[in-house]
Amino acid sequence: MTATTAIPTMSGQEIVELTKKHTLFEWSAQSKVDPIPVARAKGIYFWTPEGKRFIDFNSQLMSVNIGHGDERVIEAIAEQARALAYANPFMATEPRARLGAKLAEITPGDIDTFFFTNGGAEATENAIKLARQFSGRHKIISRYRSYHGATAGSISLTGDPRRWANEPGIPGVVRVLDPYHGVDRGWESAESSLAMIEEIIQLEGPQTIAGFILETVTGTNGILIPPDGYMQGVRKLCDKYGILMIADEVMAGFGRTGEWFAINHWNVVPDLICMAKGLTSSYLPLGAVGMRHHIAQHFQDKVFFGGLTYNSHPMGCAAALATIRVYEDDRLIDNAKKMGGVMKQLLSDLEKRHPSVGEVRNIGLFGIVELVRSRKTKQPMAPFNGTSEEMGALGKFFREQGLYTIVRWNTFYTNPPLCINEQQLREAFVIIDKGLEITDRAVKD
Ligand SMILES: Cc1ncc(COP(=O)(O)O)c(C=O)c1O
Repeated sequence: MTATTAIPTMSGQEIVELTKKHTLFEWSAQSKVDPIPVARAKGIYFWTPEGKRFIDFNSQLMSVNIGHGDERVIEAIAEQARALAYANPFMATEPRARLGAKLAEITPGDIDTFFFTNGGAEATENAIKLARQFSGRHKIISRYRSYHGATAGSISLTGDPRRWANEPGIPGVVRVLDPYHGVDRGWESAESSLAMIEEIIQLEGPQTIAGFILETVTGTNGILIPPDGYMQGVRKLCDKYGILMIADEVMAGFGRTGEWFAINHWNVVPDLICMAKGLTSSYLPLGAVGMRHHIAQHFQDKVFFGGLTYNSHPMGCAAALATIRVYEDDRLIDNAKKMGGVMKQLLSDLEKRHPSVGEVRNIGLFGIVELVRSRKTKQPMAPFNGTSEEMGALGKFFREQGLYTIVRWNTFYTNPPLCINEQQLREAFVIIDKGLEITDRAVKD
């Protein structure tokens, strides 16, 4: 069976209609959704049942980092399923044992103990529990331009508009501004941003604050790469006030930025680290929260009040182990760094050629393009939390041309699987280059 000739049992249209009839799509009014039917995938590509090919330029949800259909991971999952599909979390299994040890090896500093979850939201959710139970304090600081998941606690931590309809949320969350203020207002320095955070810490009462959760490189809110000194400064503030620094690496981790974890770019060791997505490259659902040694020690005689039926699921752990091997064997993190350099050049070429490109950013294969109506005022091509005719038309063009990526507000992402090569990267940018003619037509000056 080749990827393009397999005969599906349902047509794409039948799949879409039946899916829409009986299932709910997330973050959407159901009548507005227009899903792509997907039948199979390999490497950086996926196909509809009818054989239309897409370049997966968002690694699905910035998560299929090793690429699709890797037989080594598939085989590891099958083997584990045959031996032991499930054991409850009070038991010890070999994949759980090995994965904990492997993660202790690749995570920063003295992080050496892990609590496994089903995904990213449960990782941030359990990070709050750990921080509160460890410190005996209850407040958590988070930032406005952030996403930390959709469960009750994690959506309260989330700063972006997905939180609004879920409020009031859990008590005790204090939000601070980011150093980035949108394409039209730009960046502030690490120093002034840190001073604002310190002022808020003092006003809230440092002795009431358990943790500060932050995406190390912010993902869905704009691939925001912090100015140098910012992460180090947050670490210092947390140390000064006895606050746990919680790095949310759910999207930025596992090679996406050209390092195992994005925080490594700044040589900072967080107290807690949240991961999911790239941990298994989404072959199976699995997340984790890792903690530094002294935090794990605290729970030697204190009970950790948290649990999940699928905590440390053997198949998830086996998938993660096999995935981590793929990163290592295929040197994918090096490739992300190298291809990130190529992407930087390609993005900068777009900026030169297209008046509608207001700003581009990337770190490794974590990239974004921000579109504007004017280079002078940097008025975004779509308003905050909204869309526009031009952004809609650009999304439609990408889809017609077989380029899958997320178009959000005035931006779109460039986040391919880390196994991408230069020729494939260029192939995607040819489509992008053509598509930007649509938004260029809306530029006033
Ligand atoms: C930074 C970050 N944290 C947490 C989450 C939530 O992860 P999940 O959707 O697996 O619950 C996401 C998901 O996009 C994320 O990007």
